[in-house]
Amino acid sequence: HQLCDPELPIEQLLASPLDQVLSTPGLPLPAQLFEREGRRNSMGLDFTELAPREALQQALTQADTEPVPKAGQSDVEQAMARLQAAAPAWAACPVLDRAACLRRAADALEAQTLAFCARLTHEAGKTAADAMAEVREAVDFLRYYAGQAEQDPALMRGRGVFVCISPWNFPLAIFAGQMAAALVAGNAVAAKPAEQTPAVARAMVALLHEAGVPRDALQLLHGPGERVGAALVAHAACAGVSFTGSTAVAQHIHRALAAQPGPPRPLIAETGGLNAMVVDSTALPEQVIDAVVQSAFRSAGQRCSALRLLCLHDGIADRVIEMLRGAMAELRVGSPARLDTDVGPLIDDEAHVHIARHVLRLRREARFIAESPLAEPHPRLLAPIAFEIGRIDELREEIFGPVLHVLRWQGEPEGVIDAINALGYGLTLGLQTRIDSRAERLAALARVGNVYVNRNIVGAVVGVQPFGGEGLSGTGPKAGGPSYLRRFVAEPALRTSL
Ligand code: NAD
Ligand code: ALA
Repeated sequence: HQLCDPELPIEQLLASPLDQVLSTPGLPLPAQLFEREGRRNSMGLDFTELAPREALQQALTQADTEPVPKAGQSDVEQAMARLQAAAPAWAACPVLDRAACLRRAADALEAQTLAFCARLTHEAGKTAADAMAEVREAVDFLRYYAGQAEQDPALMRGRGVFVCISPWNFPLAIFAGQMAAALVAGNAVAAKPAEQTPAVARAMVALLHEAGVPRDALQLLHGPGERVGAALVAHAACAGVSFTGSTAVAQHIHRALAAQPGPPRPLIAETGGLNAMVVDSTALPEQVIDAVVQSAFRSAGQRCSALRLLCLHDGIADRVIEMLRGAMAELRVGSPARLDTDVGPLIDDEAHVHIARHVLRLRREARFIAESPLAEPHPRLLAPIAFEIGRIDELREEIFGPVLHVLRWQGEPEGVIDAINALGYGLTLGLQTRIDSRAERLAALARVGNVYVNRNIVGAVVGVQPFGGEGLSGTGPKAGGPSYLRRFVAEPALRTSL
């Protein structure tokens, strides 16, 4: 595996020949999708419910491979004009009818689960488990926001045209969730998906249109964020922005909105994390390992919630590190088209180069712990890798891949939480301890959106674990939670006759 060689120039990584891991350009052979080698993969997930292969053979259509037209400035102008004209009628449409559109879309999405799984695997390199979980999450978002609006119809007074900008790492669930919330709240929507995942976005928007959302009230604009996204944000008709993506782009959008003349517009920003797990000497090592592998390496670490920093008490560190080596050796890192793959590819070459550079630096400056073997060679596969670092502040920015940093600690865990808080991010935190009072104390001290105790730190469930961060990790309100829709609405006038 080439990354083992610290002297290897990055350019050489990119020059590696493409192989069959992902059959790009074009489709992976649908018959190969989700082909199983065993009933369970090594993360313990069971796929017995997956439909037969024949269904997958028809899953991807020709349309999924057709290039999308990239929007220019005149397309942005036209779309915003249409949206502005359509917004009043959509806002006047009864809330229950708007919610019914979401429910119809949820039913249709559920019925097309395999087609969407196939698109997610083809376009975003998602493993079968991740693709299936993402389709379910998108269905949940649609139904959850429909339900929230139905409960509180008087509050659902839209602001006008909402701009929804989404990332590639949840190209279906986050994309659908943003649009669903904005639409059911009574806004027209300009949807700008990530450049890397246009086919998933196109299929989802088509589904919402078919479910009854008027075409003029929901417009899809493809293209580079710095051009199309920026033009939408800067447009005079933009009444608010729902953004999920990197902290740097959120800061950019925040400044762009602040520079606009006219009334201030709300920005909902859900951004990156530098997420930690704190393990004390009472923790159960087996449970820790399962949680760490799921949190750091599932989805190839391409989750905002993923574990980046494992803080091990000195008394348990050697044992956990030894077990981690064993667990990492068992992971299957390879084609997302195989059912037994645990860890699939990174999204693109740019991401690979960025993370590979970080790994090369760690090879020079940190203590190597372990690296998973690659099942297939491919320039976009990056083997999960772990290093021990000496100080928490060696970690400054989010590394969006399967790279785990391990740090030993002694003394009181409160000091570790203080140091984590000082990093400035605040998305997820894991606590592993058998002392309940300690877990409560540390959870209260942590400045994060979601704390997970004695389990993994990824995969928040819509409606059960509202998800979102603070500090550099986002503005709130939490997605999939009861207060989320309120940010998309203008409060109704208070009528008083006395
Ligand atoms: P990104 O910030 O590069 O891009 C996100 C979106 O913003 C894309 O659609 C992009 O085209 C657009 N964009 C880029 N520049 C823009 C600009 N100047 N103006 C307007 N729009 C612009 O993020 P990404 O690489 O697509 O996604 C990964 C990041 O998303 C990670 O940092 C991850 O932590 C974060 N993320 C956060 C959450 C969360 O809920 N907190 C969830 C998923 C991903
Ligand atoms: N909501 C996603 C998770 O919890 C990002 O992993």
